[in-house]
Amino acid sequence: MGYQAYIRSFADHDGDGMGDLRGIVDKVDYLAWLGVDAVWINPFFPSPGHDHGYDVSDYVDVDPQHGTLADFDELISATRKVGIRVIVDIVPNHTSNEHAWFTAAVADPTGPFRDFYIWKPPAADGGPPNNWVSHFGGPAWTFEPVSGEYYCHLFLPEQPDLNWQNPAVADAFDTALRFWLDRGAAGFRIDVAHGCHKDPLFRDNPQLRTVTPNMSPRAVFDSFDHRFDLDQDTNIEVFRRWNQVVEPYGAVLIGELGAEDAERAARYVADGDALHQLFYLRSTWLEWEPAEWKTSIESLQAIAPGGVSWVLSCHDRPRPATRFGRGVDDQRAISRSLALSTLAMVLGGMPFVYQGEELGLPDGNVDPNSVTDPLAARFSQWAGEGRDGCRTPMPWDSTPNNGFTRGEPWLKSAPRPAELTVESQRDDPESTIHRYRDLLAFRHKTPQLCEGQARVLDLGPSVIAIERPHCLAITNLATEAFSVDLSTLTLPGGPWHQSFSSKNGVLEAKNDSFSEVAAESTSIYLNGAPS
Ligand code: NOJ
Repeated sequence: MGYQAYIRSFADHDGDGMGDLRGIVDKVDYLAWLGVDAVWINPFFPSPGHDHGYDVSDYVDVDPQHGTLADFDELISATRKVGIRVIVDIVPNHTSNEHAWFTAAVADPTGPFRDFYIWKPPAADGGPPNNWVSHFGGPAWTFEPVSGEYYCHLFLPEQPDLNWQNPAVADAFDTALRFWLDRGAAGFRIDVAHGCHKDPLFRDNPQLRTVTPNMSPRAVFDSFDHRFDLDQDTNIEVFRRWNQVVEPYGAVLIGELGAEDAERAARYVADGDALHQLFYLRSTWLEWEPAEWKTSIESLQAIAPGGVSWVLSCHDRPRPATRFGRGVDDQRAISRSLALSTLAMVLGGMPFVYQGEELGLPDGNVDPNSVTDPLAARFSQWAGEGRDGCRTPMPWDSTPNNGFTRGEPWLKSAPRPAELTVESQRDDPESTIHRYRDLLAFRHKTPQLCEGQARVLDLGPSVIAIERPHCLAITNLATEAFSVDLSTLTLPGGPWHQSFSSKNGVLEAKNDSFSEVAAESTSIYLNGAPS
């Protein structure tokens, strides 16, 4: 199981209110206790911070607010001792506008760095060269007065998009990848992996609906068919090249894939010569929508078996305890998350939990005057779209700032109650953290969960069933229990015994072909003699 440490909010070692690499070092024992195999750390490179680190101004250094290169080395050595791998978050679609490549590109329009970025003359009316819009609101183009040209940015104007048609850009990224691999990184989470290549003709995206002034940035973005700015056919070539770079190190490439179309997303992992795993973002958008979950999981399992790193949440979307908790109590929302996390154990890829998910943490309360995410801070009328709520500091204990920092936290939020802290849950064997820990331990000692070919079984509209030669997982998404007679299923092997349930953890093995899967839960069965 992978674990996402959102560095800004995970643990602050030096007391300046901002999470840092040494803070993660301090918590390596915790990660080992939980049973994680790999930790993905959000960008810690030098950055002006307009998009909280996703505007990188140097790919081969550490931002002083997150530490030093020596701290990174220490993290590698501490994690190696306990068998945890470190996954670095790399951002190839765009840089910061303060990156030396971009400042040189602006300063010297005829110089070698100009072509690192995407420049176009204005349209005939003087406006942007085409109708592309930014994910974060407004056009995807900003006018640069010195040269009289526009540059492209699919996110903030402070995040100019790189020109991946320029071989020098590809060379520069090979160097950056090797830099972190040589220091001990075990792989990369690739930001906006679907964005690097753009339509060579920069055609207008087809418009799906009328855009009105009162629409949110997200609604405006969704009003276009992004066939010319995202997921171009040639985009996969970037990762075929990276695959060659990481191969000698045995490192992994996990691409953030926002492509809506599962078939197109699957191409990136189909032949194993590009990405190794996908973070398929649709799963972080879904609320508790049983039919949607069934379709998403089954269709991807069919076309990209083992190629998806399933995630229920990340630093960009409301947490599952919030998303799945609308209209139901907290405990039920947590049971739903556990049901899906348990199912993820048999889907073949490396699932990730986002820090705090193991506590059943809902979104934090951030005072509207303290919001920092550009989505909320720049468009106050769309504050609800901001991502601060899922980014509040990790609650370690009940001391001030929940033990995250002894300084002033970079993001101010309401304190968490004791029962949502690591300290108190570790002491309570019935707590959510122990449910996750049991699940991870079960996965470690049960290789059958990932062995052999997986097959999707059809057991009804509210049930997801995945079968492998020696295991069967049944997720019941309905509000009533689901009864199943395993002897009526055409399964090889047997006898079958229920070994794990997302409600009760590891079960005492008994052979019985009748089983009841509780409402909104997952049961895992193994065949052969009970171990
Ligand atoms: C996806 C990242 O997860 C998000 O936080 C960021 O704002 C965008 N990519 C742009 O880099």
